[in-house]
Amino acid sequence: MKVLLLGSGGREHALAWKIAQSAKVEKLFIAPGNAGTQNVGENVDIKADDFEALKNFVVENGVDMVIVGPEDPLVKGVYDDFKNDERTKNVPVIGPSKSGAVLEGSKDFAKQFMKRHNIPTAKYETFDGTTVEEGLKFLETLKAPYVLKADGLCAGKGVLILPTLEEAKKEFKEMLGGMFGNASARVVIEEFLSGIECSVFALTDGKNYKILPEAKDYKRIGEHDTGLNTGGMGSVSPVPFATKEWMQKVEDRIIRPTVEGLAEENIEYKGFIFFGLINVEGEPMVIEYNCRMGDPETETVMLRLKSDIVDLFEGVAEGNLDKRDIEFDERAAVCVMLVSGGYPQTYAKGYEITGLDKIEDSVVFHAGTKMQNGKVVTNGGRVIAVSSYGKDKSEALQNSFTQAQKIEFTDKYFRRDIGQDL
Ligand code: AMP
Ligand code: GLY
Repeated sequence: MKVLLLGSGGREHALAWKIAQSAKVEKLFIAPGNAGTQNVGENVDIKADDFEALKNFVVENGVDMVIVGPEDPLVKGVYDDFKNDERTKNVPVIGPSKSGAVLEGSKDFAKQFMKRHNIPTAKYETFDGTTVEEGLKFLETLKAPYVLKADGLCAGKGVLILPTLEEAKKEFKEMLGGMFGNASARVVIEEFLSGIECSVFALTDGKNYKILPEAKDYKRIGEHDTGLNTGGMGSVSPVPFATKEWMQKVEDRIIRPTVEGLAEENIEYKGFIFFGLINVEGEPMVIEYNCRMGDPETETVMLRLKSDIVDLFEGVAEGNLDKRDIEFDERAAVCVMLVSGGYPQTYAKGYEITGLDKIEDSVVFHAGTKMQNGKVVTNGGRVIAVSSYGKDKSEALQNSFTQAQKIEFTDKYFRRDIGQDL
């Protein structure tokens, strides 16, 4: 079959790498892709949210399935757009409908959904420009630190954690005043939860689901989780505290009620659900939902998924995911992200990347790269993910670290402590 994958980051290269291994796939296209995805498929110069151009491409090239990597096209309704067009209505799109993507697109919706279905999460209230005074009063009932969340999508920047009530009140007013534009016209204030985070992923056909290997990502730029937040500096899978018993709680209290809740509310959802969890004294609670896979978690999760991912996607499309097998690799996987010096603040682009041909035993996923005059050059803050197996996370980290040193570009930086805190 012919498959079209949407997106252009490290997550999409990892998905493309896995999809390309399927015996069912005769041709893989990636729109728009990056310098790495062209090694496992054919890049197509169409933006992931240009639905008209994507549909034309699907029709002209006889594409049999569309897989959506990032949240943006999902929140904008790519699933519905394909379904409502006579020409593409029978081409399965792997990803939720617009109403399902709201789980990520609106924090307030996600919190209300969890409340309706008794899914464990932090206590919260939502406020807007007409309820500023009530919001300030609610803040006074909470203990420091204070968690403020813009309701809408803010490219991962919409959550503020403030140490004092004074700062929380000030930022709350600024958020409602347009700090994140329309995305912060409504603000969720919630109780702070203390614990270690873990990302859990399920693939669902709307009724059945399969749980993928869990992972933990590392968001801060500096070692030992210091400094500014980034899009992700690395990931590890498995996560030691996600034992069989803990994962059973996650399935019983969170995953099954979520899938059943979506079905009960007639929300069409055929795709990945990302559960951003926190382990509070042994009890899993939901910090957030995302309507897609995580980045850089996918760069380790795909290494640990042994089954044919396209077979699972067919199960999603046909509504018989329960009939498909899912198997994991028992080894550990660690991903180390090589970033541009200066990231997540200002950094330069366009530096040549060398040494990619010297990598042995690890898998290199491109995040922010592009081809320029026949050379691979840096094209973003997060540049290359180096993912490795090991008998345990320390060996996997060592392997990624050894290979990461062979890849060179000006002002390269990476963390050496991924997975070591667990
Ligand atoms: P989110 O965009 O919802 O994932 O939030 C970004 C980050 O803020 C999360 O990964 C957590 O580290 C942190 N965070 C969000 N909500 C809470 C909370 N209620 N308690 C503690 N930390 C939180
Ligand atoms: N790694 C967190 C995310 O993809 O949102």
